[in-house]
Amino acid sequence: MVPTSSSWRAVRDRLDALARELREARKVAVHVIAADLAVPDEVERVVREVQALPVEIEFLVNNAGLGNVGAFATSPLERQLVMVDVNVRALVRLTHAFLPAMIARGRGRVLDHRLDGGPPAGPVRARSITRARPS
Ligand SMILES: NC(=O)c1ccc[n+]([C@@H]2O[C@H](COP(=O)([O-])OP(=O)(O)OC[C@H]3O[C@@H](n4cnc5c(N)ncnc54)[C@H](OP(=O)(O)O)[C@@H]3O)[C@@H](O)[C@H]2O)c1
Repeated sequence: MVPTSSSWRAVRDRLDALARELREARKVAVHVIAADLAVPDEVERVVREVQALPVEIEFLVNNAGLGNVGAFATSPLERQLVMVDVNVRALVRLTHAFLPAMIARGRGRVLDHRLDGGPPAGPVRARSITRARPS
């Protein structure tokens, strides 16, 4: 489903409200970037906007994701492709963008909330989730 401008406004309002709550309760700086992670250009925008912030990413939480109930063969293709884009493509892109600085600093965490509960994203995992044929 492509979000409408009013649903994006609702998402943005919800995130802004949470940011205000965190600033007041925890006295921390909070930056909000709302994006549709099913859209590759939006994921690139997230990377750019985060990299422009005066912060170091110490903890990347790959929480965004969606699932599908029902038989794969009869489920709408669009839903399956959005799942791949959000659950796999965005996760791989964001981890690839922020992991190198963590490694260089010798400090950092990636928390991965994917639906399949498999091993964490990494070179082997990235390869295995993009294989087109079973081995
Ligand atoms: N619930 C379970 O049993 C279960 C089990 C294993 C793994 N997981 C995984 O754990 C994570 C959280 O699950 P949950 O149960 O909390 O699900 P949820 O309530 O549906 O949360 C999913 C989150 O992903 C975000 N999201 C979905 N599509 C997006 C998109 N195109 N762009 C940006 N954000 C998007 C949603 O944003 P909005 O709120 O703005 O829609 C929401 O914040 C997911 O990755 C899920 O696959 C869940």
